[in-house]
Amino acid sequence: MEKILVLDFGGQYNQLIARRVRDLNVYAEIKPYNGITPEEIAAAGYCGIIFTGGPNSVYDMSSPHYDPKVLELGIPILGICYGAQLTAWMGGGSVITAETSEYGKISLLLDVSDSCLLEGVPAESVVWMSHTDRIAAVPQGFRVTAHTEVCPVAAMENAEKKLYAVQFHPEVTHSEYGKQILRNFLYNVCHCEGTWRMDSFIEDTVVSLRQQIGDKKVILGLSGGVDSSVAAGLISRAVGDQLTCVFVDQGLMRKDEGDFVEETFTRLFDMKFVRLNCQEHFLRCLKGVTDPEEKRKIIGTEFYKAFWDEIRCQGSADSFFAQGTIYPDRIESGKGEADKIKTHHNMVAQPEDVQFLGTIEPLKDLFKDEVRRVGEELGIPKELVWRQPFPGPGLGVRIIGEITAEKVKILQEADWVLRDEMAKNGYEKNMAQFFCVLPGVSTVGVMGDHRTYDHLLAIRAVTTDDFMTADWARIPYDLLAKVSNRITNEVRHINRVVYDITSKPPATVEWE
Ligand code: XMP
Repeated sequence: MEKILVLDFGGQYNQLIARRVRDLNVYAEIKPYNGITPEEIAAAGYCGIIFTGGPNSVYDMSSPHYDPKVLELGIPILGICYGAQLTAWMGGGSVITAETSEYGKISLLLDVSDSCLLEGVPAESVVWMSHTDRIAAVPQGFRVTAHTEVCPVAAMENAEKKLYAVQFHPEVTHSEYGKQILRNFLYNVCHCEGTWRMDSFIEDTVVSLRQQIGDKKVILGLSGGVDSSVAAGLISRAVGDQLTCVFVDQGLMRKDEGDFVEETFTRLFDMKFVRLNCQEHFLRCLKGVTDPEEKRKIIGTEFYKAFWDEIRCQGSADSFFAQGTIYPDRIESGKGEADKIKTHHNMVAQPEDVQFLGTIEPLKDLFKDEVRRVGEELGIPKELVWRQPFPGPGLGVRIIGEITAEKVKILQEADWVLRDEMAKNGYEKNMAQFFCVLPGVSTVGVMGDHRTYDHLLAIRAVTTDDFMTADWARIPYDLLAKVSNRITNEVRHINRVVYDITSKPPATVEWE
């Protein structure tokens, strides 16, 4: 398969580079710089290599370096930011620390008009820069192709050896012609054909799943989240009712979500669907428990027990085990050990006494946006494909203090009103996450002639790119007023509504 290697030197945009390449219909995979040798690169058949940025200086010996043999493989290379400096340094050029850093949107001025990397880029355009070190002298055989006011080598190339480098970040949307430059690299320099498409991904995956599975069975733990739903859709497309989806409903989902998941999968797909309705059991286990960590632990343990007991009942020895693992769950980064493979909370650790024929992870090479595209192509409803993240412990982390059936019901009803109003007013799509929280606080209110002493409800809504940081969403006052009014009128036992105006950090998105 046609593919590009994104060699990661620890830059913050490594995944973005790979996603941009894939958006241009070429498969890209990320490897840490210390995880692959030039010989392995040559053997793997890459049609091009992109060196990512990195936080370091090439003259710092603790910085990530790479074997200069890579420049002699004959495979086209595009170095970006630190990757550009590294290319210069490996090729025998020099890099210096500039007196002033260049950061933000900067004017790029072309020095040539015949570079195939810069084809279609005007003589002056805006690029995104973030650097202090810069290339001072280009290696032998290279020419300077662009500069900025303070950076004499903003782009350089040795077209004969197909080696290119840019000091700016073409993967960032602030670089006006960044996409064009990446496209030029892929199609003008690497001569890619553009074979990476989601419709052909589905066709190819269905064929290989059929080969792998044969006439055996497959068991998948469906959470109702995007990844496991799309994995289920894809496997069902391949082997129909040889697939059994096990859906543990702990009774802590948003209003009607359990029914929606069951209805969607039984109606749209050929598969066996097992729903375990466990609300009563979970509530019994959670009775009297108020400590947040204890609550999480109980919900996690009981979920695990319910799921694996069901698998033991079904028998697993002649089945494969399917999971919705996606690419970012398993990327090793160039930043080193500390950042290696985060455990994915959707993975259900397998007990020792349960044996399968093997594991199937049909989405393991896809980014989230690609998973969503596959989901849409498979006909999975938009509500599921674009579902907001939902914590594994469900509403359990949105009810502070003891969880009771009554509190779950109150929270579900209030949360439903919020979602209804957000959808009606067109806010559903452009807000990363919004929900209600029941803080377990009672306050005084007045209703008619009576004083009330009832629940306070909090609304949380955030905008974010990656959930590592988040800002509270600036929902219009009128909409907040409508939501508050409807909740206090329609949901019994709520007499006061507040809006959470804290960003992350210092707060987290969830309250518990
Ligand atoms: P925090 O609260 O850490 O949340 O700012 C960041 C994102 O992660 C989700 N979240 C969880 N997801 N299990 C999950 O599967 C959890 O225990 C959990 N806690 C938080 C949260 O909804 C947000 O999207």
